[in-house]
Amino acid sequence: MLHSEVTLHSEVRATSPLPTVVAAARPVPRHVAIIMDGNGRWAKRAGLPRSEGHRAGAESVRAISRHARQLGVQALTLYAFSEQNWGRPAAEVHALFALLVDFLRSEREELHHNQIRLVAIGNTGKLPLPARLALQAVVAETAHYTGMTLALCLSYGGREDMVQATQLLARQVQAGELSPAAISADHISRALWTGRIGCDPDLVIRTSGEQRLSNFLLWDAAYAEFVFCAQDWPDFREQAFSDALQEYANRQRRFGVVAA
Ligand code: IPE
Ligand code: IPE
Ligand code: MG
Repeated sequence: MLHSEVTLHSEVRATSPLPTVVAAARPVPRHVAIIMDGNGRWAKRAGLPRSEGHRAGAESVRAISRHARQLGVQALTLYAFSEQNWGRPAAEVHALFALLVDFLRSEREELHHNQIRLVAIGNTGKLPLPARLALQAVVAETAHYTGMTLALCLSYGGREDMVQATQLLARQVQAGELSPAAISADHISRALWTGRIGCDPDLVIRTSGEQRLSNFLLWDAAYAEFVFCAQDWPDFREQAFSDALQEYANRQRRFGVVAA
């Protein structure tokens, strides 16, 4: 795993005339999830239509995916379109899915080159056909990669995910494959759409100054650290991402127990 920074400890050993440098990796979060917010406000400030904010936001997606991979993040989950975002004007929804198709077309080679596994999280059957087909193709052809998982949340909601997971488990109970008493937190994690990612987020970032979850990873973020950034998503680039990781590295995670 690559780390952008290391903490250096010097220790002089009796047997060695030189200090031994032990590189202790700073804790890079295994799984970073981002609520990419503020495209509309960014566009408004620039006197541009909202769709231009989404276009600029897609450039941040490219930059941050690449950077996360370089820093050794194993999973990057991006909240790209919520279930509730279907309520936006049709032209904006159309522009967002056209950008998704562009993104998949232009990034395909890079995903292969960097061995990135793309997964789609959400009720993706609702997506417009061109987006659905483009997504299915790239998801299938990158399914075996282990470099990094890039999870795109599309037509996603945390509550909707919990509803569909509950329905799935209820069907297993009804079929006699699972007893109600045997249902564990692991069963639920695996039944969620986000189960495809393989681990809970360590760090959740939200841009644009808003401090709310907006239906993102309600089950999964139980013990995540949160970093809220003032920049709108189109302005959130490599340095801002590194700063958020640094803030994460300075946190003490306790998981409900008393620190040793
Ligand atoms: C985030 O930016 C992108 C999506 C939700 C699809 P917004 O479009 O929510 O931008 P603001 O919050 O209106 O500025
Ligand atoms: C959350 O942002 C959804 C995505 C980033 C895709 P919204 O802009 O939709 O959330 P609210 O409306 O501010 O809560
Ligand atoms: Mg918003």
